[in-house]
Amino acid sequence: MSKHLLEAEGLHKVYRTRNGTDFTAVQNVSFYLGQGETLGIVGESGSGKTTVAKMVAGMIPLTSGSIILGDKALSGTKRIRSDKRSIQYVFQDPVSSLNPRWKIRDIVAEPLKLYFQMNAKAIDKRVDELLDDVGLPREFKSRYPGELSGGQCQRVGIARALAAEPAVIVCDEPTSALDMTIQAQILELLKKLQQQKGVSYLFIAHGLEVIYSISHRVMVMKAGEVVEAGETKQIFHDPQHEYTRSLIEAIPRINIPQFQ
Ligand SMILES: Nc1ncnc2c1ncn2[C@@H]1O[C@H](COP(=O)(O)OP(=O)(O)OP(=O)(O)O)[C@@H](O)[C@H]1O
Ligand SMILES: [Mg+2]
Repeated sequence: MSKHLLEAEGLHKVYRTRNGTDFTAVQNVSFYLGQGETLGIVGESGSGKTTVAKMVAGMIPLTSGSIILGDKALSGTKRIRSDKRSIQYVFQDPVSSLNPRWKIRDIVAEPLKLYFQMNAKAIDKRVDELLDDVGLPREFKSRYPGELSGGQCQRVGIARALAAEPAVIVCDEPTSALDMTIQAQILELLKKLQQQKGVSYLFIAHGLEVIYSISHRVMVMKAGEVVEAGETKQIFHDPQHEYTRSLIEAIPRINIPQFQ
């Protein structure tokens, strides 16, 4: 039995590129995630964050390494339904991550149908509750994604993830496509939901400013490797690595009152 809810050990990913050469996108990445905790993963574009996220969520196979959830080793992509249910994904682009031809009701109901034996009436009630949870009006059930704003679409994406009652939600830059005010609202929503439901987040971002307010711990990645990891406060106040210092310097000071 592992000490933590989720443990990733020695994750390694080699992509075979179109011209037949191998490219190592992720190398020897290890981390853990406690229940109700948020681990922020930060690093520049191409550093391997999404590759790590997709391996954890079972969306792409691992080249090597292991992922343990609770006391169970998870296979790369051939996961049984209950393991799939346990780790959900919220995508960077909220609009394209929702099927444009499905009504919001059907999008949020899909995991309910897939993972739980519920009748139509129970599903309808649960969809209402999930929309309440993410702060969307129940009337939105009969709308299509194209009739919602980006921020509202991301709330639907979060409701869909919550519908599966997961232990872990992988949030892959969930606010990058949104403007600053909406970003802050989505972060507050995620924090509130974590307090209410005890769900754990693997939260990915380009910059440390988003990570600061939501993460308990931070892991910094560069060129497929972990350069530094630790408590959020420690990473900000006493960064050990030059690259981490450069990420801190890139933060507009106004966003972090404690640093003025
Ligand atoms: N399917 C693939 N085939 C080949 N190379 C890939 C594939 N997917 C990603 N890569 C490469 O692996 C590296 C890591 O990509 P990844 O998407 O994990 O980075 P990222 O940190 O999420 O970047 P971003 O911040 O831009 O989202 C990049 O160099 C990318 O080009
Ligand atoms: Mg990415």
